[in-house]
Amino acid sequence: MPAENIASRKVSFDERAFLVDGRHRLLVSGEIHYARSPRELWPVLLDNAKELGLNCIASYVFWNWHEPERDVYDFSGDRDLGHFLALCAERDLDVILRAGPYCCAEWNYGGFAPYLRDEPDITIRTWNAPYMNRVEKYFRHLVSEFRPYLASNGGPVILVQVENEYANVAKRYGEDGQRYIAWMGDLAKKLGVDVPIIMCEGGAEGAIETVNGFSISSDRMRKFRKEHPGLPAIWTELWPSWYNTWGFQKHFRDPRNIASHILSFIANGGSGFNYYMFHGGTNFGRTSMYLQTTSYDFDGLLDEYGSPALKGRYLAQLHKMLNAHSGTLLDGKCEVRRNGDGTLSATWKHGNKSLTVECRQSPFRATVTDKDGKILFDTEKNYSSLYTSYRPAGWKTLPSPSCWRSWAEPRPSERTDDAISSAAPIEQLSLTHDRTDYCWYSAEIKLEKNGNHILELSHCADVMSVFIDGKPVGFSQPPFLENRGPTSTSKTKKNAGEKANMLELDVGQYAQPFAFSSTKGNHRLDILASAIGMVKGDWMLGAPMNTECKGIWGKAICDGRSIRGWRMRPFLVGEKLALPSRTSSVKWQDGLRNSQGCVWFLAKIGISKNILSSNTNFRIDATGLGKGMLFINGHALGRHWLIEGNGYGADDKWQDKKLDGLYLGPQGEPTQRYYHVPKTWLKEDNELLIFEERQCAPGKVRLEMRKV
Ligand code: GAL
Repeated sequence: MPAENIASRKVSFDERAFLVDGRHRLLVSGEIHYARSPRELWPVLLDNAKELGLNCIASYVFWNWHEPERDVYDFSGDRDLGHFLALCAERDLDVILRAGPYCCAEWNYGGFAPYLRDEPDITIRTWNAPYMNRVEKYFRHLVSEFRPYLASNGGPVILVQVENEYANVAKRYGEDGQRYIAWMGDLAKKLGVDVPIIMCEGGAEGAIETVNGFSISSDRMRKFRKEHPGLPAIWTELWPSWYNTWGFQKHFRDPRNIASHILSFIANGGSGFNYYMFHGGTNFGRTSMYLQTTSYDFDGLLDEYGSPALKGRYLAQLHKMLNAHSGTLLDGKCEVRRNGDGTLSATWKHGNKSLTVECRQSPFRATVTDKDGKILFDTEKNYSSLYTSYRPAGWKTLPSPSCWRSWAEPRPSERTDDAISSAAPIEQLSLTHDRTDYCWYSAEIKLEKNGNHILELSHCADVMSVFIDGKPVGFSQPPFLENRGPTSTSKTKKNAGEKANMLELDVGQYAQPFAFSSTKGNHRLDILASAIGMVKGDWMLGAPMNTECKGIWGKAICDGRSIRGWRMRPFLVGEKLALPSRTSSVKWQDGLRNSQGCVWFLAKIGISKNILSSNTNFRIDATGLGKGMLFINGHALGRHWLIEGNGYGADDKWQDKKLDGLYLGPQGEPTQRYYHVPKTWLKEDNELLIFEERQCAPGKVRLEMRKV
């Protein structure tokens, strides 16, 4: 809690900028999601933010992080929002709190609590009583947690964002949507949010609209000014690169291009920007959205481990220069010149000070000079001087994990727990409520011939492992599309609107064929359905988020004949036994046996006191593994998948090279080979636990460290 004697701060705005206690404030902000790092890392991240010249931090508040189960609220430990805000305050960092209830952010279900899906008659993100009742209840709780940290109460929170990029769904929800978004803003006010409320990319009256993007062009600024007279221009999401999805290459963005676009935004009158992400962090456990890798590195200014990336060190030079001249920039008189060749030049004069920003296009390059013509920042020169001299520390492999043991996850035929029976397969989320990725689907099949057979699942998601008589015979063949389209022809046709040929869409995106060979006769078919996160937004389904489906919910056809008589078993037995936190609850077999997939592996990893007490980062090189989940000392490190990356994914900016400075990582390498292990989860004697769906070589797995 902020100390009682801290004075209230008044946040206001004019067309030029936000003001705190009557003084214009240039927002040099970076997004850090506290939910994507253990709390022990928060001070490190915030110190580095300060060190790299930020004066403000933005974070989303994910609803499902704080209400993991209906009416169960958790604001403790790694979910201690108040502690995070207090750490910001201690460092004199202001905060933009992006309170939701919807966030997006490549986080599971865009931040929504998965239980919402089970509320009768719910439609998410629109004027719908079942939805709004849950929002109101949660928001009441949430606001009471952060109210003491509002600037008006002497705390660091100067702005609160409500909802997120509503423009993306506004068309679908029409007038009801507009009523809902206006209600959201009013609700925040009613609950006591008395700092300015912002809404990015689609707002409501009474909220301050802000912009997001890779760049904010002069045309966009003109449009913004016209549509929002009297508001400051704030760039709430400046994308320094992009997230990565399983099966695609990694995304990168050249920092010179970022610096040029920041300066062009400022020359056009912008007075605040927020890197999304400044520190991406990690989607530990099951917190990733569908298809999003466990790493959320984002090619940000801090790397996934929280250390300044070279990009961050470079941009820090720009931040420091901007901070030093913010008075001139915000209070000076500005003259802007645009030349025919696209060059933009802005000069601010304030007292005896002056500052000139000059931006050229294609390729973008910008310089900042003072009144004597001295160069204060040059996107090229500042880059070359830093990038030629700096050598980041390398990673070292620690002694191999030892004492390997294994325990085969019981096949459905070996399970003693009750199955759910039904003629047709039952959709997975209605059985798991997203408390696990896994659900087995089992049936008897009769094959009419020896040799090759085809199993076709008309509607299934996400990754299927097919077993005949307990032996693996096939896996889903990615890449999967990020935006897949509606999940079922009947259920969502009405809502899908713009998507005309639903059947075709479904077939392309949810139908999966599996070819296998087997003998004539009766066989046991088991399919392990593995979900890889819930969608982050309507557009991934072309339908409201609550219509998402996982597992098998359509027809299952083998050699042209429909399979009937299914038994569903949600959860792995290892999960039911809470194996990650109680590894002694099963009888392990020594050594690394040759597995048929679906096996738990356990190994010991020793780390010396010396290494543990030094300033180090740790990661697992997961080479040798297939797909599954990793745990260390009971902590869920996340999903692993060594799938090769090919192509750019859903990001047409990379496809069409709509912006200079975007590039992809190498083709054919795993989208994610390394997995962050926070130091705070390590000790001298460690237990590494792996659940592996595929046949694999876990003996190749290594722990690596790097001195910071
Ligand atoms: C934005 C969204 C963010 C994040 C970002 C992409 O549109 O508001 O939450 O998803 O895209 O990384």
